[in-house]
Amino acid sequence: MFKSIRWRLVLIYFLLTLLTMTVVGFFIVTQSEKIQLDVNSKDIRARVSSIYASSNAMQNDNWSNNIENIENNVINGIQLGYSDNIYVILDNEKKTVIASSVLDFGKHSAYSSDRINSEILVKSMSGEPAETIVVNELDNTHIRHISYPLKNSSGDIKGYIYLTSDISYINDTISQTRDMFMRATAVALLVTIIFGFIMSKSITGPIKTLTVKARQMSQGDFNQKVEIKSDDEIGHLGKMFNFLTDELETNMSKLNQEKSKIETTLTYMADGVLTVDKNGNIIHINPVAKRILSVRSRDVLYDQIISRKTHDLYLDKLEENKWNGTHILETEKETYKIDYAPFMDGQNQIGGVILVFKNITEQHRLDRQQKEFVANVSHELKTPITTIKSYTETLLEGALDEKELAIDFLKTINSESDRMSRLVSDLLKLSRMDHEKAIWTKEKISINEIVKDSCSKLILQAKSKKIKLNCSYDNRNSNVLFDKDGLEQILLNIIGNAIKYTPEHGEVSVGISAETSKVVVAIKDTGIGIPKDDLNHVFERFYRVDKARTRQMGGTGLGLSIAEQIAKSHDSTIEINSELHVGTTVTISMPKLLKG
Ligand SMILES: Nc1ncnc2c1ncn2[C@@H]1O[C@H](COP(=O)(O)OP(=O)(O)OP(=O)(O)O)[C@@H](O)[C@H]1O
Ligand SMILES: [Mg+2]
Repeated sequence: MFKSIRWRLVLIYFLLTLLTMTVVGFFIVTQSEKIQLDVNSKDIRARVSSIYASSNAMQNDNWSNNIENIENNVINGIQLGYSDNIYVILDNEKKTVIASSVLDFGKHSAYSSDRINSEILVKSMSGEPAETIVVNELDNTHIRHISYPLKNSSGDIKGYIYLTSDISYINDTISQTRDMFMRATAVALLVTIIFGFIMSKSITGPIKTLTVKARQMSQGDFNQKVEIKSDDEIGHLGKMFNFLTDELETNMSKLNQEKSKIETTLTYMADGVLTVDKNGNIIHINPVAKRILSVRSRDVLYDQIISRKTHDLYLDKLEENKWNGTHILETEKETYKIDYAPFMDGQNQIGGVILVFKNITEQHRLDRQQKEFVANVSHELKTPITTIKSYTETLLEGALDEKELAIDFLKTINSESDRMSRLVSDLLKLSRMDHEKAIWTKEKISINEIVKDSCSKLILQAKSKKIKLNCSYDNRNSNVLFDKDGLEQILLNIIGNAIKYTPEHGEVSVGISAETSKVVVAIKDTGIGIPKDDLNHVFERFYRVDKARTRQMGGTGLGLSIAEQIAKSHDSTIEINSELHVGTTVTISMPKLLKG
């Protein structure tokens, strides 16, 4: 109960009031008792003096001869209070009481009477008045005793006036005062409790409201405001609370915005992102990473997921590498570069690791292609050079003398040189086109004429293979805007390919069709066809479906890539459809020249 500020405040008020009332009460009671006793003491002494002054018999130096007069004076002439008694004591050896207001007291020694306190009597023998208060425990009476020494004209003590006075009334007054204070204290405490409650409520009430609102805020409801009722510290606290909620709401909404931005970025980014804590629990995984790692909905543990792709990225391996590094992951079809780095937790310790999966399949492929390209070029050049060198050496070593053999050798050297020069010129063309340095002279070309020229240039080649070359033309004779040599090169390579890759007695047909905006030349053969998997690659440099066979046929695998590059520079396209062992159709689409 006393844990609450409210009760503690009430208790503090209560104790403060109790302490104040007790200290004040004690002080007032003791002071008033002291004052009353002092007044009473002075009053009694004054009374004794006046008794002495009013008695001629007592003023006489010789009391022994005046005992009767003194007795008369005391009994008849002195006015005493209701509770007072007086004794006149002679200063002889026995200290004989010679007169008393007490009836039939008799004339005997003061020491023998219990009404007279011998102690103060003895004290007063020094010449100074002595007094004391005698308390009777039985009836709770307080009696003041005073012994007043009287001197004769020569300065010696002649006797004593001894007075007793009941002062119990002082004690009664004091106890009444004490009672009064206790009642006042009780009332003050009651009032303190009531006011304490009301006051502490005014302090703790707003605090309670703040606590309730803060609890609601901790549950995510930030729209909390308190009513400001005063301009004191509590009011300021309320204002600060309202300011805090406003700030918190703005910051939370900013934070949520940032969070949602990051989530959206992670969801739609092309790279896979996976966050895992040090215990191997997945904290976050974006859709790309899910797809790469084939994550199922019930998967929660990192090691279990990663084990399906590689064992090199187990959590303890990442820890061995100090949570930082790169790994290349090759799946069946794709290649990923995985970068991982640690993230810090609230205590600035490593909380886990973030893995980013970058798809580098294309880059990987290009790298490989480039390496292959260099290897291919070197290989393609090396083969004719080796042939030329060995033939030349043989000739020099004496084969020159055998004329027929020498002519054969020289023919081979010649054709290998042609091959090399073709290869170099093809590479040069490609290189020029790569660097956009090829100069095209675009001119109006009749499609019928150029197809006719190409066909006639290849007719002998077709005939030598007993292939039927059908070239048909367009009635309207459409025109295209093209570089003449470029277009001829495209046609010669594609029709040449059709003848080259069609077995003897096959058929190659070239057809032209004109649409509203384009001219299409289709080259169809009944050749060996291209396997589906190779179709996408035939435009790559040096790509040949069957390397050994095509090389025999004189192919280097550059023709289609050159053709495609030329076509691209003229906003044209080349498409290949093929069925293995059935035949191939290559379609060249060019923009039609409308005017003229
Ligand atoms: N009509 C076709 N029928 C079957 N395969 C073809 C046909 N056309 C092209 N190919 C295949 O595509 C590959 C690439 O053709 P490309 O014209 O680029 O090279 P190439 O003919 O071998 O050599 P180059 O044209 O440089 O002398 C060929 O090696 C061949 O395997
Ligand atoms: Mg070719």
